[in-house]
Order: sequence, then C-alpha cells, then structure tokens
Amino acid sequence: MAGTGVFADIFDGDAYKYYSDGEWKKSSSGKTVAIINPTTRKTQYKVQACTQEEVNKVMELAKTAQKSWAKTPLWKRAELLHKAAAILKEHKAPIAECLVKEIAKPAKDSVTEVVRSGDLVSYCAEEGVRILGEGKFLVSDSFPGNERTKYCLTSKVPLGVILAIPPFNYPVNLAVSKIAPALIAGNSLVLKPPTQGAVSCLHMVHCFHLAGFPNGLISCVTGKGSEIGDFLTMHPGVNCISFTGGDTGIAISKKAGMIPLQMELGGKDACIVLEDADLDLVASNIIKGGFSYSGQRCTAVKVVLVMESVADALVEKVKAKVAKLTVGAPEDDSDITPVVSESSANFIEGLVKDAKEKGATFCQEYKREGNLIWPLLLDNVRPDMRIAWEEPFGPVLPVIRINSIEEGIHHCNASNFGLQGCVFTKDVNKAILISDAMETGTVQINSAPARGPDHFPFQGLKDSGIGSQGVTNSINMMTKIKTTVINLPTPSYTMG
Ligand code: G3H
Repeated sequence: MAGTGVFADIFDGDAYKYYSDGEWKKSSSGKTVAIINPTTRKTQYKVQACTQEEVNKVMELAKTAQKSWAKTPLWKRAELLHKAAAILKEHKAPIAECLVKEIAKPAKDSVTEVVRSGDLVSYCAEEGVRILGEGKFLVSDSFPGNERTKYCLTSKVPLGVILAIPPFNYPVNLAVSKIAPALIAGNSLVLKPPTQGAVSCLHMVHCFHLAGFPNGLISCVTGKGSEIGDFLTMHPGVNCISFTGGDTGIAISKKAGMIPLQMELGGKDACIVLEDADLDLVASNIIKGGFSYSGQRCTAVKVVLVMESVADALVEKVKAKVAKLTVGAPEDDSDITPVVSESSANFIEGLVKDAKEKGATFCQEYKREGNLIWPLLLDNVRPDMRIAWEEPFGPVLPVIRINSIEEGIHHCNASNFGLQGCVFTKDVNKAILISDAMETGTVQINSAPARGPDHFPFQGLKDSGIGSQGVTNSINMMTKIKTTVINLPTPSYTMG
C-alpha cells in the first residue's frame, strides 16, 4: 500500500515528504499542497510546499554530488540503475495505486506504466554502457593542408545538473525517461513532479533511494509552480532542462539561459484515412489512439481526416466501438475515466459547446458528471471550429471529411503542432509520400501514433517541442563532446 512498508519513510501520516540529500524531509514552509483525486474530487494526498531556499539547497547538493558521480565507473552507474529498475518493478502495486488515485489512470494501465518504466531504466543502463563507452579518433591529414600530426580523441562528458519536469499523464514513465539517461551519463538530477502525479513520483524516487544512489545526486522538490516554478527553471545551477507538458514549455524555453533544452509540448496528431484503407483496422486504431487514457496523451489521435467516400462507413464502425467503451472509475479499470481536473473538464466542454454551436454532428449525446466525460465522436467538423485545431486532452474526437489527400496534408501542416500523425492505406508508395509531406516528428503507417517502444526517437516539430527523446537521443542530449588533441612534432602515418 502507498506510503507504508518500505515507503513508510516518505510519509509523515498527513503529508508526503520531499527528497533532499538522501533523506525524506518536511518543508520549512510548514505548508502543503493538496492533490485532488479526479474521481472523488476530494483531497487524496498532500505534498510539501517547498521553498526557494530548499531549491537552492538541492541545487548546491546536486552540483557537489555530480562531481564524484562523474568519476564513478560507467559499469557501476549501470549496476545501480538496474537495481533501481528491479525495485521499481517489485513495488509496482503501491505506485500504480497512486497513479489510479492521483491521475485516474485505469488500474491495469497504471501497472503497465510502472513496469514499462522499469524496463526503460534497464534499457537505458545497457544502452549507456555501450554508447558512452565509445569515443571517436580523428586524424588531421584528412583535411586539406594538414599532415598527420594531430590525433583527436573525442568522448562524451556529462552536462552537470539536469532539471527534469514530467507531466501529469505519465508522472512515473516520463520522469524515469529523463532520470535514467541523466544518471547513466554522469549527471545529477533535480526532479519537479507535476502536482497531480507527485505522490507516484515520490514513490518512484524512493526506489532509486533504496537502490543506494549517493546522497544529493537525486532530489525531488514538490510545491507550487508560482513559488518555485520559475525559480527552478531559471536557476543558475541548472545545466539542462528536460520538460514534458503543455504551453508552459514555451514560456520556460524563453526564460531559460544558454542551456540545452529537451521539450515535448503536446500535439494535434492527425489520422489521415485513404479510400483503400482497411476500415476495421482504422476504427480499432482510432479507438486505441483517440480514447485510451481518455484521450489524455500527447500522442493521442486528435483529429481524423477521412476521405469523403469512406467517411460514412468509418464513422459507423467507430461509433459501434465507442458504444462498447466502459465509462467509470479507474479502480474498475474502465476504458474512460475522469479527466485530471475540473478545469480540464471545463475546457473540454468549451470545445464541445463551440462545435455544437457551429453545427458539428454529435455521434453520441454529450454527457458529463463531475470530471467524467463520456466518449464523444464529432462528425462533419469544419476548420472554423476550435476542436479542429485545439487539443482537448479528453475523450472527444473530431472527424473532418476531406476530398483529396492534399486537403488532409494541408490541414495537418496548418496546425501549430507537429508531434506525430498517422496514415492508413494499403498503398505503401502513397503512404511514404504522405509521410514525407506531413510536418510532424513521426508518422505511423497503418497504426495510431505512439511514443513507444521507448528506445525509438521521439520528437515534435513546431510548437510540439525541441530536440529528440528516446533512450539513445536522451543520453546523447544530456552529454557534451569533449576532445583532446595530441600534437606530434613530426607526421606519423599508421604502418607508414
Ligand atoms: O503524453 C505524452 C506521451 O509522451 C505519450 O506517450 O504514446 O506512450 O502514450 P504514449
């Protein structure tokens, strides 16, 4: 159970503590932040409202701890990560319990998130050992005008202190996707969890604590964005920010100093359906892609662009599947669960009302109870409706009927987002042409958008992000190239 057994240290009976210097502490602010259960809409947990002084302290500790961590052999760093991965998986049940209560993720998916996270940490340890164990050797005589008098040795060195800010929808998985690459590459890590998802994060961090990482190397500060948000992201001690979330990322990237940024800020992933597509396959993928975790995924299918000639048939198939989705509590493993907050539900409702006023066809009746919104397919959506462009981050999916492939590509590319997209057709040549024309970080052919498997590159264009994620790219992004050049007094040619 959460906050008990091996996790007893992280909870004081009323509120969860924050993690600094290898210890679980109460904030000197004496204040806490409430975490509202999206299902009950009552306070489920409380976390510490950390102060700016506490942030300064973790930054100082992270800087010191990183210096000795960078001197810890790579195999040893990997060994500790493997240990943390095993502990995380062993304690999947209490962590999943927190996910269910804090973010209303269905019970089975919550367990999957923790297991997937353990696998990601292990994979990262293995990949890090391989890619960080390699460098490059260059010789000078390949460049015009040079003799072979210079040997250049390149290796990858850590950046220093990484600030990791994961989102509410994958608080564990998108935290470890930042923590593990940072640590294997020899960096230290300061984690600022989202408020909804903070307690899941704290349990996950405790698994790293139990694995025996050095004090100060990992810290986790909780609190109000208004108090410590900008203070963290603009802190001079931070050498790199890895952020996943919404518009806040754009503000962060404007305020951050001259440091590498990894940003993933959402998407309006289009699903283009051609006349020759296997409509049963499309319908299943629209359900999986559009409605899993109630549409609260940056890679969710967020607009269907279907050729008019097959639109009626597709809409009928999707409608039939929507009718079978179960709606209810995450504890019951319902397909559709309450969205994360009342403000999120209100925002979704605003998009639905706008579509209603402008004449969209409602394939189901709009229904909402508290934060629970029944799945809704909106047909005949037009570009003047907000839902055609905005991300609902909820179980509402617009269908726009198109008359040409060009129209579909145009709609996709007119979006300010460019995360992923997908195209359904049996013609691989057309699929490749469409993929090349779509201005998105990834295009899936004959499947819904998805980030995983977690070692695949994951990136967005335009407002969807900066940089690329995925295990290898994240490790590389959290390092810098260092070179040493050996200068010889006379040219030396191998076997010369
Ligand atoms: O919400 C953003 C996530 O990166 C999406 O991950 O495709 O595994 O659901 P997913």
